[in-house]
Amino acid sequence: MPNPRFPATRMRRNRRTPWLRELVRENVLTPADLIWPVFVIEGAGESEQVASMPGVERLSCDLLAAAAKDARGLGIPMIAIFPFVDPSLKTPDAKEAWNPDNLVCRAVKAIKDAVPDIGVMCDVALDPFNSDGHDGIVKGDVILNDETVECLVKQSICQAEAGCDVIAPSDMMDGRIAAIRAGLDESNLQDVAIMSYAAKYASGFYGPFRDAVGSGGALKGDKKTYQMDPGNTDEALREVEMDIDEGADMVMVKPGLPYLDIVRRVKDAFGMPTFAYNVSGEYAMLRGAGDAGWLHYDTVMMEMLLGFKRAGADGVLTYHAIDAAKILNG
Ligand code: PBG
Repeated sequence: MPNPRFPATRMRRNRRTPWLRELVRENVLTPADLIWPVFVIEGAGESEQVASMPGVERLSCDLLAAAAKDARGLGIPMIAIFPFVDPSLKTPDAKEAWNPDNLVCRAVKAIKDAVPDIGVMCDVALDPFNSDGHDGIVKGDVILNDETVECLVKQSICQAEAGCDVIAPSDMMDGRIAAIRAGLDESNLQDVAIMSYAAKYASGFYGPFRDAVGSGGALKGDKKTYQMDPGNTDEALREVEMDIDEGADMVMVKPGLPYLDIVRRVKDAFGMPTFAYNVSGEYAMLRGAGDAGWLHYDTVMMEMLLGFKRAGADGVLTYHAIDAAKILNG
């Protein structure tokens, strides 16, 4: 239905005052839309700045549990754990990934003990544990698919048994969602959910993350034989469709800002709980410009996070979660 033309219609009428703008606002951001990714290190009382992500720290399990309590108090529903693994534990078979006493499992238990009502999500991929820095098992120049999937199933069961609520495979191997679902179900873990990194692109925006977890140095080559080509859109829909068919409960698009078109298409096509990962490089850009005084950090952060909602995301994984939740809590 067309608007009556000007001057009968004056679009500025609905923008005249703050209460009017609030009244007609179509999309809102709340703390419940935020998932907070965190980095965990060994030790007690330990915190370390991540050089390429100002304001982001790696925390030992005890400090992480305290931080999770604060996050829940701010209304954040879920936290996503990423480990900084001691290089001496990294091997070509990445077997530390399914050691029930590994750093991830200890972090899950510490958080769940301290804050039973926060959701805990764990990344499933071999890169923090693999001496080759890849998400899968490497043989020569090839990242093996089916052998990797077997490892991912063991890793998923191990994390779920430690108390993880949401298993999040980020590896982009084919067939892993079906295999992980079957593995969880056979282990009586049928209530553990899967959030698939369904459309994950081979991106330069992961650079600071690889510093944060210490996987960057080990990585030989790139991840282009398993992560998606940034030129493709239809392929993302096929990836998402297959993961839904294999049993994913929630799907994710990654990175976030340069791929909001994918978020919109995925949400429209499948109507699934759909998430976007506002990745480390996106955080570093905004935070760096904010610290330099080139942008007003709070303003652009909130504008950007709202953009994810407008694109159709049900929630956003973001390193800004605490800063944004504090603003939203006034
Ligand atoms: C690895 C993984 C990556 C991220 C989450 N899980 C990096 C990669 O694929 O190399 C990136 C997160 C970010 O950049 O914030 N499985």
